[in-house]
Amino acid sequence: MSPTTLSAVITVDGPSGSGKGTICRLLSQKLGWNLLDSGALYRLTALAARHHGVDLDDVEALQVLAAHLDVRFVASDTESEIQIFLEGEEVTKAIRAEDVGLDASKVAAIQPVRTALLSRQRDFAEQPGLIADGRDMGTVVFPDALLKIYLDASAEERAQRRYKQLIDKGVGASLEDILQDLRARDDRDMNRSASPLKPAEDAIRLDSTSMTIDEVLAAVLEEARHRGVR
Ligand code: C5P
Repeated sequence: MSPTTLSAVITVDGPSGSGKGTICRLLSQKLGWNLLDSGALYRLTALAARHHGVDLDDVEALQVLAAHLDVRFVASDTESEIQIFLEGEEVTKAIRAEDVGLDASKVAAIQPVRTALLSRQRDFAEQPGLIADGRDMGTVVFPDALLKIYLDASAEERAQRRYKQLIDKGVGASLEDILQDLRARDDRDMNRSASPLKPAEDAIRLDSTSMTIDEVLAAVLEEARHRGVR
């Protein structure tokens, strides 16, 4: 299948905690473009496996699950977050759990699962445009994207951000454990053979370690404007 899409795509790839999710949400609001949270699809596959008692080593069953995922993304007028339903059940919060993220990174290393999710991701590229958030958006899913961003930050800074999020939510957390989990996830995402996390050759690289969200957003918008996005 040709990866070429008819509408404009901006891809934002990078490791966990680099600020991709926030930047992509703000970009989609600012430009009025569609949003693809590709990580959610891997998280949903991992959660579906759990619901159906499918082992994470069972490649064939995982491929079937991924190909037939019954998922709905629903934008709500009252909530800023898009609501996510798996087989009719709301799982918006459930898929964000740390253990689901860890299972997602295992499921995401399986090439047949990635292939099963490919056309579903490309279907998000509708008018007027798409902001695609993930690990392989610029390298594999949308190689013809109008603008590719690779957003990074030091592991320590990313762990610190995650720690603060959890503490703000009133969830007890250890910075050491978070840093260790984050390094394990980075290692798996960057060193797998199937679509490893890496910047596309034509990606603009931004390091958000000492940048505010507003500064990152402004930098991406400036690149978009250079490419004719208004
Ligand atoms: O971005 P998020 O943390 O929700 O992604 C969960 C996991 O899904 C990542 O750790 C990564 O292993 C996987 N993923 C991927 N390719 C993508 C998006 C996410 O492999 N495009």
